[in-house]
Amino acid sequence: MDLKPVTKKLYIETYGCQMNVSDSEIVGSIMKNIGYEQNDNPENANVIFINTCSIRDNAEQTVRKRLREIKALKKKNPRLTVGILGCMAERLKEKLIEEQEFVDLIVGPDAYRDLPKMIQTVESGRKAINVLLSEEETYAEIEPVRYGDNGISAFISIMRGCQNWCTYCVVPFTRGKERSRDPQTIVVEAQALFDKGYKEITLLGQNVNSYAWENENGNVGFPALLKMVAAVSPLLRVRFATSHPKDISDELILTIASHHNICNYIHLPVQSGSSAVLKKMHRKYTREWYLERIDTIKKHIPDVGLSTDIIAGFCTETEEDHQNTLSLMESVGYDYAFMFKYSERPDTIAAKRFADDVPDDVKSRRLQEIIKLQQEMSLRRNRADVGKIFEVLVEQVSKKSDADLAGRNSQNKMIVFPRKDFKPGDYVMVKVHDCTAATLIGTSVE
Ligand code: SAH
Ligand code: SF4
Ligand code: F3S
Repeated sequence: MDLKPVTKKLYIETYGCQMNVSDSEIVGSIMKNIGYEQNDNPENANVIFINTCSIRDNAEQTVRKRLREIKALKKKNPRLTVGILGCMAERLKEKLIEEQEFVDLIVGPDAYRDLPKMIQTVESGRKAINVLLSEEETYAEIEPVRYGDNGISAFISIMRGCQNWCTYCVVPFTRGKERSRDPQTIVVEAQALFDKGYKEITLLGQNVNSYAWENENGNVGFPALLKMVAAVSPLLRVRFATSHPKDISDELILTIASHHNICNYIHLPVQSGSSAVLKKMHRKYTREWYLERIDTIKKHIPDVGLSTDIIAGFCTETEEDHQNTLSLMESVGYDYAFMFKYSERPDTIAAKRFADDVPDDVKSRRLQEIIKLQQEMSLRRNRADVGKIFEVLVEQVSKKSDADLAGRNSQNKMIVFPRKDFKPGDYVMVKVHDCTAATLIGTSVE
């Protein structure tokens, strides 16, 4: 008798940061090995996984809202398996099953290899929980299934965890200790992607520039790793995120400056422009130190693109502290920023030791001022690019018009230009003639 293996259907929905997106691809790969095929309709799925984020309260509320809809699906189809993955699973552990009784499985970010066993447990009618954190797990040799990317740029996770213990942050609790992945496996993954036609790799971690790998052959730090990945091909662009200001070394800056295919773009979260607030946040640098690093970056990489993360209204933040944030933004001249209102997270150092004492309306007003300034600066920074010529890696046909292509320059700015005979994956020289605050508009030049 010819018994065909029955493929079952897995639907994964991902919230939170790029690292979660990358983890979902690892989970997809682990599930594929036990016969699960990726499916984009939750209504047809045998297993639904929600990969969650805890970074701010509203991130968790978004997940809870979605879980109410998933609960309705489970009512219609009691054989459906529902699992919660990621940072909320890790933060809340078994409390999450008490809160969401219809959920079958809870798995933290370091326990995905256990999923095949956990699925069996659920099939035998029991709930499955594994939220053990690991000091070693990097999923180094698991080849992620790639979905949802454009076939041109991909992410490679190079480290996991974080132990910087910024006082506001849940990540050290949900992701465990910092650990780096074997550089050889990273280069192998980058090479395999390049061979498949990918042209851009982003190396991912909470604090990539503290990457450190040691073995009997010596040490590999982040600048050395960047060089190894950049050596895969001059046609492979290399990016990285996120770097912590405390670890932006001269060596790293010079490495970026001296390699054409290491992009001239740094995402360098500052969080606040006030040294007093930075101290309370335990960021391990001052305003002056940060600004000095920015000067050094600009000196060696004059056309660098810079972006940041900013938190408005952290504990004790005064009006003067807030003004210092605005003035720091002006001095740096960021191209882009991710801006948030401080959200107190249970069990963090700030929640335990400091009062969340900036009233919500003040937080909102400060955030609005920060956003307004950033919008003006983004437009200003884009206007300064009008007339310049950039090398653009084409990613896709423009969402707004079939006649245009969209891609990024080394500085990570999106540029739209007429399609002609170009296609995704091509490098095209484009002259900018116009812009909005979000996009540069140009024409290819011969
Ligand atoms: N590892 C990165 C960022 C991790 S989280 C870094 O250190 O820069 C992404 C951003 O979320 C942070 O940079 C911070 O700006 C923001 N964030 C983290 N915790 C937060 C909180 N409790 N409230 C508001 N924003 C927060
Ligand atoms: Fe959170 Fe700080 Fe670690 Fe970033 S460096 S993940 S903000 S603890
Ligand atoms: Fe969120 Fe966890 Fe990433 S808390 S931001 S998904 S590391």
